[in-house]
Amino acid sequence: MSAPPTQPRDRAAVLCGLAGWLPPRVVTNEELAGRLDTSDTWIRARTGIGRRHFAEPGQATSDLAVAAGRRALRSAGMDEVDAVVVTTTTPDRSCPATAPLVADRLGLTGAAAFDVSAVCTGFVYGLASAAGLIAAHVAERVLLIGADTYSTIVDPLDRTNAIIFGDGAGAVVLRAGHSDEPGAVGHFDLGSDGAGEELIMVAAGGSRQRSASGPVAPQDHHFAMRGKEVYRHAVTRMTASARATLTLADRKVDDIDRIVPHQANLRILRSVAEDLGLPSERLVTNVESVGNTGAASIPLALADAAARNTIHAGERVLLTAFGGGLTWGSCLLTWPALARTDRPHDNPHDTGGTQEP
Ligand code: UT7
Repeated sequence: MSAPPTQPRDRAAVLCGLAGWLPPRVVTNEELAGRLDTSDTWIRARTGIGRRHFAEPGQATSDLAVAAGRRALRSAGMDEVDAVVVTTTTPDRSCPATAPLVADRLGLTGAAAFDVSAVCTGFVYGLASAAGLIAAHVAERVLLIGADTYSTIVDPLDRTNAIIFGDGAGAVVLRAGHSDEPGAVGHFDLGSDGAGEELIMVAAGGSRQRSASGPVAPQDHHFAMRGKEVYRHAVTRMTASARATLTLADRKVDDIDRIVPHQANLRILRSVAEDLGLPSERLVTNVESVGNTGAASIPLALADAAARNTIHAGERVLLTAFGGGLTWGSCLLTWPALARTDRPHDNPHDTGGTQEP
């Protein structure tokens, strides 16, 4: 009897390192209620958020990204990669991208480095971009960092947005491997609807409303969101995208052990899990302690869950996100056995081995 023909195994990006980093300054609901017309009770009831972290004045997104990136490289046991992808809505500058600076500060000068901009869907878009680099043999190892400092663009007197957002960074390392290995990322579903541009925006500072060409009203530099409409889109888009991903992968909802949605608002996360028919025990959330951290939110939730041992090797994990654009996206993976990851809250002054940031 002849041996069965060997099937070529598909090349795929495999998650092999994970970390998060939060700036030390904790801002409680009580602190916000001291200067805004709000209360801990309102914030907890409407969002599930209890506190968040803010960068110090002068601390930029790259500072957080470097700290998370260094920890993720350490988690992967790597000191070199071929590409660094940073996904953020709050880059250090509108030009150049933040990724080359982050790569340089991590000792990765020479690696390909670029930013991905998809607001709160940034991490899933970044994951697809990084996986594409690996699938196309452009890179063997990619460091992907989601980092945001919303405290730099949210109006501190805007009680609706000031209570939701926090700062932070989360990072993963991906290596070339095979689609049947634990940690292999995919399938993906990505989508957008630019007709919803005005639901989430910073009006000024781009080519449409240039700061350089005349005075700009201060509020146009601030983050603006039509919360109620965004809320509805977030639930329907994340649910539909999660379902589309399951269909692509020929999986059922029952096959999902953990759902890790973008940490927008606990009520949104619970609605998505409920609409999908997933029991609440399978929902991974850290929104109570960090708020909405934009592109950092999914990797921070993963790092927190991994460090607390609430996500386990072999479990099938569904990531789903929604954000400005409008954009949305989802991704499936089987959780790999990772070296122990530190909680993003632990050792707040540990930036991964140097004095930075
Ligand atoms: O990351 C991208 C995705 N982002 C999101 O998914 C965020 C989506 N939106 C939300 O999470 C929610 O819409 C918010 C948390 C922003 C607001 O919650 P809501 O339950 O939709 O409240 P609302 O906007 O309908 O406001 C209800 C009331 C209003 O007062 P009136 O008009 O009923 O008298 C608001 O003025 O609550 C008032 N309000 C507040 N009260 C106390 C709004 N913000 C606050 C506040 N404290 N911070």
